[in-house]
Amino acid sequence: MKERDEYAVVGIGFGPSNLSLAVALDEHDSGGGSPLQATFVERQPEFGWHRNMLLPFAKMQVSFLKDLATFRNPTSRHSFISYLHSVGRLAQFVNNQDFFPTRHEFHDYLQWVEGHFSDRVTYNAEVTALRLPADDHARSLDTVQVEVRNNGASGASRLINARNVVVSTGLVPKMPPGIDRDERVWHSSEFLGRFQALDHSRVRRVAVVGGGQSAAEIARHVYDAIPHARVSAIMPSYGYSIADDTPFANQIFDAVAVDDYYHGSEHARDAFWRYHRNTNYGVADTETIKELYQRSYSDEIAGNTRLDFLNLSRVDSVKQLDDEVRVTLHSGRADETYGLDVDVVVFATGYDPMEPAELLGDIAAHCLRDESGRLRVGRDYRVLTTPDLNVGVYLQGGTEHTHGLGSSLLSNIAVRSGEIVDSIAARSTGAGNSGSAPAVVAG
Ligand code: FDA
Ligand code: NAP
Repeated sequence: MKERDEYAVVGIGFGPSNLSLAVALDEHDSGGGSPLQATFVERQPEFGWHRNMLLPFAKMQVSFLKDLATFRNPTSRHSFISYLHSVGRLAQFVNNQDFFPTRHEFHDYLQWVEGHFSDRVTYNAEVTALRLPADDHARSLDTVQVEVRNNGASGASRLINARNVVVSTGLVPKMPPGIDRDERVWHSSEFLGRFQALDHSRVRRVAVVGGGQSAAEIARHVYDAIPHARVSAIMPSYGYSIADDTPFANQIFDAVAVDDYYHGSEHARDAFWRYHRNTNYGVADTETIKELYQRSYSDEIAGNTRLDFLNLSRVDSVKQLDDEVRVTLHSGRADETYGLDVDVVVFATGYDPMEPAELLGDIAAHCLRDESGRLRVGRDYRVLTTPDLNVGVYLQGGTEHTHGLGSSLLSNIAVRSGEIVDSIAARSTGAGNSGSAPAVVAG
């Protein structure tokens, strides 16, 4: 990466959100806006989007039109359609008549776009904290130092000066309380890497915990990949429940819904979660559910059942045995607790939202929080700060409490990135809201 003294924007993390930001910045600059020099830091050694869940046939959960750019700029050269055209597959894609590409294809699209920006990214490097320049303490704070640790052999750290940072570090894998990961106890976010390294001939029984999309996909994959293995699907519900992607419910992911959520009353925001949580959490798509049921039914016909659905059940703990692991689960059916011995248990138990607190470092004291301790965030995704801080700290993710259910998803990233770029550009010319308190606050 070419070093500069100071950047207008440092992006922390280079997943789809900040990749979309790179596109929006590029289109801002080429559209005649005064250039905003940007650089990005990514922990992984190369670009990758949830690689450990790139299962064969896994489909996208959003339309291909909700790509990195189209909803902001339908003529973007970084759109999914431009990608299809560039790889010579546009006609075939249309003939296939499916709004939802496979995750493999979408990953290929993301990599194609990444190829346009790879000179702006430092891979294998991790942002560890934000620091304030020592001599700036007494005056208005216009830049922050981004501390970057190289994850290679040197482990060296360096500082990058930034006028704005955009934090986009992604969801945080969640295990049930008291359960740690190890060689036989995995979270779904590490699934494929672990599974491919496993000697399948020695695997007799695998447990998959959870009732969401990850659990359903992993149960199907293990069942197909190890034909002699028994798969125990442990879920809290009676059966997998369907993700509501019907048209009216899907409106909660529209760009205008962000305004309805942000400016809505506490009652309105609560309604979003109460009525529409089932668009995304603890649910799976119809196709995967049907395919699992089909497998189970075919087993019944053949008289060889190897898919167990342990429903109404939650896992309480796990314990290592010699070369197995004992999973202790509580079944709500008979209100009983019992053990299940398996070779491997995969916890597809979801994710916590992005949590930027660890990264904020010296900046944390300047960031305002609401009465529940959550960061206060402007409509432009900028963290509200004390008036002495002129640095912009923007969030892509971790704004479920202010901007709603789409915060961790792809649905709105093209528009969100554009809004962030507009805010940065306006502030850099002195035209924008300072983002310091007081400002509109959502709780
Ligand atoms: P993402 O997690 O993708 O990227 C964050 C990046 O930051 C990572 O590459 C990470 O390495 C890096 N990073 C973290 N900390 C860092 C640090 N300190 N320094 C430097 N780099 C750091 N949503 C949707 O709308 N449709 C879908 O089809 C799917 N599909 C899907 C599948 C699976 C398996 C999961 C788990 C989730 C989804 N999602 C989804 C939701 C998912 O959050 C979304 O697709 C994107 O990954 C969000 O992109 P981000 O860039 O915000 O996070
Ligand atoms: P999730 O939707 O949060 O589901 C987690 C599941 O684990 C829930 O059913 C939860 O039940 C259950 N659970 C938690 N603790 C448990 C315990 N101790 N015992 C038994 N069950 C327990 O997580 P996810 O399936 O990983 O999905 C996360 C996001 O990734 C979603 O946005 C999803 O769409 C996305 N995703 C997309 C794809 C794709 O694009 N193809 C693939 C996978 C995931 P409770 O709610 O009752 O706790």
